[in-house]
Amino acid sequence: MNISLPWWHDFYDETIEAVLLNSGSEQDNLAQARALMSLLGLAPGARVLDQCCGNGRLSLPLARLGCEVLGVDLAACYIAKAEARARAEGLSVRFQVQDALLWSATPRRQAVINMWTSFGYSDDDEVNQQMLQRAFDSLEPGGIFLLDTLNLPGVLHHFRPRMENRVPTPEGEIHLERLTRLDWDRGLMLKDWIYTLPDGRRQVKHSSTRLYLPHTIIAMLRDCGFVDISIWGELNGSPLGMDSLRLIMQARRPL
Ligand SMILES: C[S@@+](CC[C@H](N)C(=O)[O-])C[C@H]1O[C@@H](n2cnc3c(N)ncnc32)[C@H](O)[C@@H]1O
Repeated sequence: MNISLPWWHDFYDETIEAVLLNSGSEQDNLAQARALMSLLGLAPGARVLDQCCGNGRLSLPLARLGCEVLGVDLAACYIAKAEARARAEGLSVRFQVQDALLWSATPRRQAVINMWTSFGYSDDDEVNQQMLQRAFDSLEPGGIFLLDTLNLPGVLHHFRPRMENRVPTPEGEIHLERLTRLDWDRGLMLKDWIYTLPDGRRQVKHSSTRLYLPHTIIAMLRDCGFVDISIWGELNGSPLGMDSLRLIMQARRPL
């Protein structure tokens, strides 16, 4: 019997880390961590869960700013790198390989963040909602959840069916051609990621993200038990617009 895992189990490797996750500078990441703390009203010492933390892009700067962070991600190679960097700097941050659809934190945290489109990967809304429910379960009463995901109207406004990028890495250049299309029947944005690696090998990966309008995610958050839901277009708290690329949502677990 051939049981295939969903796409997000083997999509996140060192190639996409180089072309996407590492595309911003350390200063950008630190600025985002600062903006997050300010938006959520977090002071140094705050206990934060970074759900789907990747390689610690934000967990590490949050820890540098004094938060006590636990980062979890499915990709073991990212967790190993994040742990090594935390150890080298002596930071108060821990990392674990966990499936955020299934796992919730104990003890509960003051804040949970889910950043940079780590939500909405399944074509099944019930599966996607599990990640929001695990965030809720990980929060202490009164705790805050912050979700940073795609803003569908903005994505359509800026839609580009094809993009090409050349990314320098220590091993040489990676060429990426990315083809994007919408599956209207299933409400999905499908992407083909066609890499040419420094040694000339070609590697093709596929991703798929469910297209949600904000009100649908709001309904999902309410269904999980969240209250006091706010939405913005950027982490700096600017309003959500038709052309905002990001949808930033904050929600609270009731006291
Ligand atoms: C676009 S990256 C964002 C990483 C990180 N949040 C950031 O802002 O840099 C999405 C991440 O979500 C992780 N991920 C996706 N589904 C997951 C799941 N069910 N459980 C844990 N991690 C997951 C991937 O492994 C990947 O590291």
